[in-house]
Amino acid sequence: MNINKWMQTNTTDLTGKVVAITGSTGGLGKHICQYLCALNAELILLDRSEEKSAEQIKELTALYPNAKISFIKLDLLNFEDVKICIEKLKNVKLDYLILNTGIYNVERKTTSLGYDNIFQVNFLMPYYITKTLMPTLQKNKAKVIAVSSIAHNYSKTNKMDIQFLNCKKNSKIYGNSKRFLTFALFKLFENENNASLTLVHPGITLTNMTNHYPKAINWLVKIGIKVLFPNPKKASLNINKAMFVNSSKISPQWVGPSTFNIWGKPKLKNLKTANEDEINFIYSTAEKLFETIKN
Ligand SMILES: NC(=O)c1ccc[n+]([C@@H]2O[C@H](COP(=O)([O-])OP(=O)(O)OC[C@H]3O[C@@H](n4cnc5c(N)ncnc54)[C@H](OP(=O)(O)O)[C@@H]3O)[C@@H](O)[C@H]2O)c1
Repeated sequence: MNINKWMQTNTTDLTGKVVAITGSTGGLGKHICQYLCALNAELILLDRSEEKSAEQIKELTALYPNAKISFIKLDLLNFEDVKICIEKLKNVKLDYLILNTGIYNVERKTTSLGYDNIFQVNFLMPYYITKTLMPTLQKNKAKVIAVSSIAHNYSKTNKMDIQFLNCKKNSKIYGNSKRFLTFALFKLFENENNASLTLVHPGITLTNMTNHYPKAINWLVKIGIKVLFPNPKKASLNINKAMFVNSSKISPQWVGPSTFNIWGKPKLKNLKTANEDEINFIYSTAEKLFETIKN
């Protein structure tokens, strides 16, 4: 696939548009930011490491000297950060919010808010931020892009253990958090006429996500992923595509690679991985958790 040609037919210039993105320092985030600078968007990097973001800004401005990029500290495990970041974003004329952060296979911990760290980073805080910012998003007719994963498909909700605390399988724990993110956000935007949402799956690609595996295993996994799957530059085009399509509000859809959700060009597709009962359960749980945290 010729990326330049693809960009010309699937994206439009973003001059004057403000895009806030979480996880900009990651394997996919880095490429998403490069595409966004190429499209002249103004960027707000929402990252946990000021140092890494500064490096990212340096690299981007070396490539795009006119790029307008700022930084707001956001560690999704630090609720103070989350609240301060939200307050700052309320004053921004935001056009896009890209929820791109994700953790997989990290050591499990209980956060200061009392939740599982993977559940909090991948679902709870992105949901909290989106819902709290809703008036701002509505006012600006902004679009939220939420980065999900095919892994959500293999983690049917366990109503007795919503955070999968009794599960030991990393892929399922991660998948459960992405399942909550996917369907809670879908439902949150179901009757929303001003702000909008598009869900996206980047496919499988080599980033820093496997860094927490033991060294030898990580080395083998990395080689396997590198050989078999698209590189992050191509995979991040799915997120680009999601910015420029309108997905259905009646039934879930997402943008993902056209072939088996792994290879091929980004494509908007129906997502039939959960029934209405499960989606409603996820949403009502998300709303209860939101109220608990808010208070
Ligand atoms: N790679 C894949 O094959 C794949 C497949 C399906 C879905 N995805 C999804 O794609 C998205 C991007 O992931 P990636 O592949 O680019 O992974 P990555 O290289 O590991 O990047 C993860 C990003 O999340 C940030 N992050 C981690 N913990 C955080 C926290 N507590 N607070 C704030 N930010 C935090 C990281 O920041 P630091 O740089 O500071 O660590 C980094 O910017 C994720 O949502 C992931 O689930 C990836």
